[in-house]
Amino acid sequence: MSTLETIGSDPDTSTLRRTFGCFPTGVAAVCAEVDGEQVGMAVSSFTSVSLSPPLVSVCIGKDSSTWPKLRQASAVGVSVLSATHDLAGRQLASRTGNRFEGLTTTTTESGALHLEDAVALFECRIHEEVPAGDHIIVLLRVLALAAQPLTPPLVFHGSRFHQLAA
Ligand SMILES: Cc1cc2nc3c(=O)[nH]c(=O)nc-3n(C[C@H](O)[C@H](O)[C@H](O)COP(=O)(O)O)c2cc1C
Repeated sequence: MSTLETIGSDPDTSTLRRTFGCFPTGVAAVCAEVDGEQVGMAVSSFTSVSLSPPLVSVCIGKDSSTWPKLRQASAVGVSVLSATHDLAGRQLASRTGNRFEGLTTTTTESGALHLEDAVALFECRIHEEVPAGDHIIVLLRVLALAAQPLTPPLVFHGSRFHQLAA
């Protein structure tokens, strides 16, 4: 194991990113239809939080231009991306172009937008937003859900997409 590096008050963000990136996660798309416009973003910070009440969370960068739009929706959709969604994952994080081009989506009556062929779907409303450094921890209350547990997920590790080994 490498020697521990003490972090000062102004830590090197590339070291932090590299070290945080050692922790493998899935990738989710947080999306909604707001005033007729499809808005959404890829996140690797999705995690389950509580069974009762049913809560999940995502961490959103404070400088995100998408979150201020998404948070206006009456409901947001969370789609857990499948192994076949690597291009969708990249597209949903792009700073230019239409993030939804070529993607097949469905929208619930409340405006939660989901991707087809996702591993799991959640329809959520915002429960609480907690400021946390340069991010906001967004707690989402789950209103409806669906799971395809046998569908292989997309994995994010070391700043790259991977698939689970067979
Ligand atoms: C795999 C992956 C995971 C990401 N995870 C997060 C995340 O957890 N939180 C976040 O705020 N942005 C995350 N992003 C970045 C956003 O998708 C998006 O690029 C960023 O918010 C800037 O776009 P915006 O200004 O439209 O929000 C991730 C991007 C990728 C490719």
